[in-house]
Amino acid sequence: MILTIDRLGHLGDAIAQGPEGPVYVAQALPGEVVEGEPVAGRIAAPRIITPSPDRVRAPCPHFRACGGCSLQYASDGFVEGWKADVVRSALAGQGLEAPLRPVVTSPARSRRRATLAGRRTKKGALVGFHGRASEMLTEIEQCLLLHPALMATLPLLREVTVAGASRQGELGLMVTLTTGGLDLAVTGGKPMDAALFAALAGLAEAGDLARLSWNGEPVATRRPPAQRFGAAEVVPAAGAFLQATAEGEAALLAAVTEAVGGVRSIADLFAGSGTFALPLASRAEVHAVESEVAALAALDTGWRRAGGLHKVSTEARDLFRRPLLPDELRRFGAVVIDPPRAGAEAQAAELARSAVPVIAAVSCNPVTFARDARLLLAGGYRIDWLQVVDQFRWSPHVELVARFSR
Ligand SMILES: C[S@@+](CC[C@H](N)C(=O)[O-])C[C@H]1O[C@@H](n2cnc3c(N)ncnc32)[C@H](O)[C@@H]1O
Repeated sequence: MILTIDRLGHLGDAIAQGPEGPVYVAQALPGEVVEGEPVAGRIAAPRIITPSPDRVRAPCPHFRACGGCSLQYASDGFVEGWKADVVRSALAGQGLEAPLRPVVTSPARSRRRATLAGRRTKKGALVGFHGRASEMLTEIEQCLLLHPALMATLPLLREVTVAGASRQGELGLMVTLTTGGLDLAVTGGKPMDAALFAALAGLAEAGDLARLSWNGEPVATRRPPAQRFGAAEVVPAAGAFLQATAEGEAALLAAVTEAVGGVRSIADLFAGSGTFALPLASRAEVHAVESEVAALAALDTGWRRAGGLHKVSTEARDLFRRPLLPDELRRFGAVVIDPPRAGAEAQAAELARSAVPVIAAVSCNPVTFARDARLLLAGGYRIDWLQVVDQFRWSPHVELVARFSR
């Protein structure tokens, strides 16, 4: 069957109109003429008859087998435009529009956190990434996404896998770059015993890790695995949320800081370990609200140690079930809100009823963002601007910051 691609869907699959309805086509671009036979409505390996001018040779040798970077066959300019369009169409789905600023994309080799998979083999260990929606593990020799310091841990990750993966099981190897060096959090490992503990402690030493945790328990903390948030150093719990690249975090923070302006009192909702709250505390009092007690404890310790910042208070609260109410929001000149992918429908409904003058909304899901934005606009807010921040380059993932005011 020969088809012409209409558009890319929001998950990055190309979509063409077939004789019996839409056909999904892997790794194709709008305007391309492709050939292939659909299986269950999808062409997994199309032959490209007429390539798009936006098609590029994927720069990574692992592109075919690895599950990351699924948009690497498209030019940077195309991906940026497409991500902006994903946001525009999510807003249009709610009858909304917003002035979009140019997309800010994190550079290659800047991911400071990644979770690799490790499996034992007859010869030793295989460490890499899974194929797209597949059990196949691709050994990674080079990766254009990961920070070089993360890549340098691959030999150590193989040794950790040999030492601590069961015969059948697979390890999750989450590596994070911190100010103290690398923080490795392993899940799915063999149960701890004295011999394994000694082996892992030895590997943490040999690999000069800041911290090594095993199935949620610390094995070795050789230096504090800290993150710098403004003037504060925070040691997040192993595996706690962290923005994926330093550049992405800086772009989000710059947009949030600009959005809130010179107000004296800010609520940071879904605050995590203080990515926004602590830098903002150099200019305003901040009330940080979040459901993870450990994240708030890390934030609070970082604030106390930093000194010289305005007051930062913390509150552990489930904002889905108990959003801040208009009365509680009254004292804030601005609210920062950065929910998980599900969005913050209940909190948006309360903000819509509030008198808060400015909202800086950060989102990793344009669909739930648009749903929540509609509530805010119905409550009298307008969208002043919207900034797409791409810290997951070559992937269909889209993040953004928007300023709302009333
Ligand atoms: C996208 S992260 C943002 C964290 C932080 N703003 C940052 O940039 O590092 C979302 C945060 O929401 C928190 N969270 C998830 N569900 C929540 C809920 N129902 N109530 C409050 N916080 C929640 C998570 O623990 C996580 O820290």
